Amino acid sequence: MTKLKNILALDDEPSMRRLLEISLKQAGYQPVLAENGREALDILRQGGIDLVISDLHMPVMDGLKLLATMQQEGIDVPSIIVTAQGEISTAIEAMKLGASDYILRPFDLSTLEIAIERALSLSRLKLENRYLRAEASQDTQLIGQSPAMQKLQQAIRQVAPEKATTLIAGETGTGKELVAQAIHQLSPRKDALFVAVNCAAIPGDMLESELFGHERGAFTGAVKNRIGKFEMADGGTLFLDEVTEMPIGLQAKLLRALQQGVIERLGSNRSLPVDIRVVAATNRDPLQAIADGKLREDLYYRLNVFRIDLPPLRERKSDIPALATHFLKPRGLSLDDAAAQTLQTYTWPGNIRELQNILERAAIICGGDTISTEHLPTDITQHATLATTTTAVPEAMTLATQANMSLPIATETLEKDMIRTALQQTKGNKSKAARLLDISERSLWYKLSRYKLEDNNDQESPLPD
Ligand SMILES: Nc1ncnc2c1ncn2[C@@H]1O[C@H](COP(=O)(O)OP(=O)(O)OP(=O)(O)O)[C@@H](O)[C@H]1O
Ligand SMILES: [Mg+2]
Repeated sequence: MTKLKNILALDDEPSMRRLLEISLKQAGYQPVLAENGREALDILRQGGIDLVISDLHMPVMDGLKLLATMQQEGIDVPSIIVTAQGEISTAIEAMKLGASDYILRPFDLSTLEIAIERALSLSRLKLENRYLRAEASQDTQLIGQSPAMQKLQQAIRQVAPEKATTLIAGETGTGKELVAQAIHQLSPRKDALFVAVNCAAIPGDMLESELFGHERGAFTGAVKNRIGKFEMADGGTLFLDEVTEMPIGLQAKLLRALQQGVIERLGSNRSLPVDIRVVAATNRDPLQAIADGKLREDLYYRLNVFRIDLPPLRERKSDIPALATHFLKPRGLSLDDAAAQTLQTYTWPGNIRELQNILERAAIICGGDTISTEHLPTDITQHATLATTTTAVPEAMTLATQANMSLPIATETLEKDMIRTALQQTKGNKSKAARLLDISERSLWYKLSRYKLEDNNDQESPLPD
């Protein structure tokens, strides 16, 4: 249920105000009345008004003066001007001052309703446009068929229709924001906004006004009224990213807002009801964050109604080829088997974001249409090689140092060790072993014969010429 739209109607004629009041109620809006521009301005400064319907001529402060002042103060509320037949030029002036529309007197209820709906949807579109431009809308398709991913998809489908807050925990780059967007997209709120606030990116003292908005003059530098992210997300989803980075005092205020479903702009004492679904995310362990005094325990329980834990990429490596294909497809590129295999041996501390970055880089340096191991950064290919020999390498290194070996002998020892491990892991398949070691098959054959590592039970193809 979205709340009723508050419509501020102003006219100096009591009978006209009464008529507007009845008409607005009948059309399903919440009327707020004022008899002149000054009174209207006081109300507008408090926030919470969705639209203004104003007469042009009023004593104290007329319609044009009101519009000009609203523009000056940055009060961004759509307005409709009511005007008489002979005053079209003034009405046009009003439009230049930011009025969304004008209607001619006398008007019937349906004309009024159409104008209101048009102005409201226009302002919504304006807001959305501005927002979408800033946040460059993302594709919310979640790629991966691993058991962990299937479980995740199921959890998302379960929580999406609910209004209950959801806490998403996971390492950096595991897709927390993407999951939050997916929840929003699958919820009944999908047509309203998904508004993200990164609590770590905004200085603590500015975060409060970012969330709750402020009135002009609420603090030094508050030169305009400003709508907060809570109001912006009304009817939609508010995504509180890195919620443990929010100052602890503000966490108390957030908790209150969540419990009561109302907010107050800074510098205002008027409570505004907001209809919000909150999804919060953290890359810390929430219980550890509580122990460290970074997260209020009561807020944690309020956020943790639903909990989604995102697995790190290294725990669902089978998703890597599909993810890679997904990221490369828009560029018309693909990945060869060796590269796909190498990507699966790396541990991905930066998770999916790191994978995405590395493929982007590979796409740039790869001249053709297939990405192979040579286009991957050396730390990944090396890491992949070492990862397969994690037990052998440290052992060989320690031995080499302890025995005071010369570099060539140490290198030889290490090479032998790594080759043996690679062969063990690939069950003697030399082309696979060569790929793991990131050397050519030919060079593996050469090393095998040089180090006399030819194993007896290997019945594979003879040495190529
Ligand atoms: N399952 C997935 N399928 C496709 N793309 C994904 C998937 N998960 C994450 N991504 C992509 O990986 C990148 C990182 O994801 P996201 O920003 O959601 O991570 P995060 O957990 O919020 O990271 P951080 O903690 O650093 O903010 C994004 O570009 C996102 O689109
Ligand atoms: Mg994120």
